[in-house]
Formats: sequence, structure tokens, C-alpha cells
Amino acid sequence: MSDETREVRQAGDRRATPRRYLMCRPSYFGVTYSINPWMEPDRPSSAETALAQWKGLHDTFATLGHDVQLIEPVAGLPDMVFAANGATVVDGKVLVARFRHRQRADESAAYLDWFRERGWSEVKMAQYTNEGEGDFLFVGDEILAGTGFRSDVRSHDEAHEFFGRPVVSLMLVDPRFYHLDTALSVLGDGEIMYYPEAFSTGSRALLAERFPDAVLAEAADAEVFGLNALSDGRNVMLPHRATGLAARLRERGYEPVGVELGELLKAGGSVKCCTLELRD
Ligand code: ARG
Repeated sequence: MSDETREVRQAGDRRATPRRYLMCRPSYFGVTYSINPWMEPDRPSSAETALAQWKGLHDTFATLGHDVQLIEPVAGLPDMVFAANGATVVDGKVLVARFRHRQRADESAAYLDWFRERGWSEVKMAQYTNEGEGDFLFVGDEILAGTGFRSDVRSHDEAHEFFGRPVVSLMLVDPRFYHLDTALSVLGDGEIMYYPEAFSTGSRALLAERFPDAVLAEAADAEVFGLNALSDGRNVMLPHRATGLAARLRERGYEPVGVELGELLKAGGSVKCCTLELRD
């Protein structure tokens, strides 16, 4: 079998499944405060550019056949575009975020209302600091949960009790990768990619043991937020500058889809940050 044939066959093995995503238009986007090392309020940022780039991501999802729902942005909440942080949704249960920083605290109410108004029955606001899918990623039938910068480690137990799923705690150690979804991405059935250097020694050992076949990212790809990616099982939307990861993904039979979200990276977010997966 030629290399070409093999590549085609592998790509054919990956199956996309239709997803439901929640997104928030960056109408009020701007870097007006700094709560992570990427945010420099003195550097110009533009809601208009952010909106155009965000629309590119939105349309990519729609073109791939995914159902995209929208939550209305709120004036004065410039980070609300990062919908991943609003909640964690698994088995139709919604654990709404409790933000670490006061600048984002009011986003919780908007998410609580959004889910309640649409008839989601099990909706609860987290008791402990919990930044939603920024720190809680569903893989296989368990949840990987990050701590160290944002979500309180006690929120991991809370998520375990609420969802009745195993929750595996991971310790983040590099402030540039302050949410789990900036350092680790779920690709498909039990398959992940991650940047080892973003994790403590213990967490690195745990990840190596549990995911021996994971795609390991290099610094250059991690630093352009290549891990802040979103997979539908076949297509992997990721920042277009993460060319090394795109090549690795292609070798594994995934279809990398490069997206330009440079304006949002000024606030420390990209593809995954903009997207909350609704799992019923
Ligand atoms: N400026 C936002 C913050 O620091 C960015 C959030 C990015 N979201 C994410 N899921 N990593 O809170």
C-alpha cells in the first residue's frame, strides 16, 4: 500500500458526529483589564476585528453541519465571548460557572438564565470557583479537570457529585496556560493532545500513563494556542498558526481546520474558549 493510500484510509476512519455548540458574539469585546498574561490593556484591540474573526469560526461550525446556538452578549462583560467558561454540560446536566475574577462574575447570571429559559432541568450554579469547560473537559466517560490558576480544586469533587462521573484532577503550572483547555484538547474516543510542560510532574505522569498515544505538542504550537482546539471526531478546528500540530493531526487521520482568531488571543482565548459544547 502506498503512503498516499494509507493516509486516505486513515482519514476515512475518523467520523465526525454532529455537535451542539453555544457561542457568544464578541459585540462588547475589548481588553480593558488583565487577568491573564496575554491581556495587555495598553495594546489596541478591536471588537470589529474580533467579530469578523469570530464569525469565521461560527460559519465553519455551521458549514460542517453543527448546530450553533447563541447567548446574547452583555455590555460591560468583554470576556463573555469565551462561552466555554460559562458552564459544563454533560448528560443534560448544567453546572454553571463561578468565576475567579470579579470582572467576569456577572457572566454566571446570563448563563443561568439562558439554560433555565430553555428548559434545561438540572441547572446549578457551582458553589466553588469553577470556570466551566475552560477547566473541565469531557473525554471518554470521564472528566479531566484543571486547577492551579482558576477553578478551585474543591470544584472537582463538586463536579464529580453533580455529574456522577469520574473526575481526574490535573495541576497547571504555567500562567500562560491558566485554563486546562489552553494546554489540552480532546480529539476523539479517549484520544487527546496536550502540552506536557504546562502540567506539574505528577499530572504529567498521570497523563502519560492514561493516554500513552496522546499527541504531544511542542512549545511553538502551544504558544499560539494550538491546544485551544475543538474536534468533532474528525475535523479539528485550531488556530491556523499551529502548523506543527496540524501536521501531526493529519498524520493521525484528523482533518485540521485552521482558523484565524488573533484578535481574541489578545484576551488569552481562541477556538475552544469561544465554544461551549451542549451534551444532552
Ligand atoms: N480573558 C479571559 C480570561 O482570562 C479568557 C478566557 C479564555 N477561555 C478559556 N476557555 N480558556 O478569563
